[in-house]
Amino acid sequence: MTEDTTKLNTSKLGTKEYWDNFYALEKDNFESNPDDTGECWFSDSNAEEKMVEFLFDNLNEYAIHDQSSMVDIGTGNGHLLFTLREEGFKGQLLGIDYSEKSVEFARSIAEENDVDVEFEVVDIFSESWDPKVVDVVLDKGTLDAIALSGLQYNDKPVVEIYPHAIDKLMTKGSVFLITSCNFTEKELESIILQNKSLKLWKKVDYPSFQFGGVKGSTICTLAFVKQS
Ligand SMILES: C[S@@+](CC[C@H](N)C(=O)[O-])C[C@H]1O[C@@H](n2cnc3c(N)ncnc32)[C@H](O)[C@@H]1O
Repeated sequence: MTEDTTKLNTSKLGTKEYWDNFYALEKDNFESNPDDTGECWFSDSNAEEKMVEFLFDNLNEYAIHDQSSMVDIGTGNGHLLFTLREEGFKGQLLGIDYSEKSVEFARSIAEENDVDVEFEVVDIFSESWDPKVVDVVLDKGTLDAIALSGLQYNDKPVVEIYPHAIDKLMTKGSVFLITSCNFTEKELESIILQNKSLKLWKKVDYPSFQFGGVKGSTICTLAFVKQS
């Protein structure tokens, strides 16, 4: 069961309205300046670089290879996928997001730069969502935002539903790589392992700080593998 510490207070960052307004503004900015592709979440911690580096360091382990199909959940401006494409991943890359504005924005970046990355409007909690399985599933900051929604489905908090929702994208050997700045490693691990078909595979190292004798880090990235 989820510990109480994994239940965050609700915030506007948990609402679709917030993300629609956010990406509508970013799309306007991009239209007046095509170099402005918007906010890259957790860039001060180099989270995106760490995730890309992880995939390169673990090439040919489980389903990770240079032709891997990948889905980025809550893709926002699609930056992570654009970077993966630029760095040489050649498989199908799909960004999904429940904000139509995010998808419009990410598609316009792909078009402007003639990059082959696809985007689709999807609410991962929609019961009718029936995706194809992929090799690698990515999440940078999306569970964090979702946890702030305070939503419940069938009387269960979203953080309990989340690890089962992402399971729709996975088959045996698929890898799930997730970055959070709202949960500690232990909290994140316990949320994801509510799905018993996943096992924790690796942790990505970040510089840690020490405070009052306690060691910590403001961000964590964990990799899970689907076992069955
Ligand atoms: C903190 S932003 C992270 C965006 C992107 N991953 C990045 O690192 O820049 C969270 C994203 O999750 C999306 N999101 C929130 N709930 C979602 C849901 N139920 N299904 C799909 N996307 C969702 C939001 O629209 C937003 O784009």
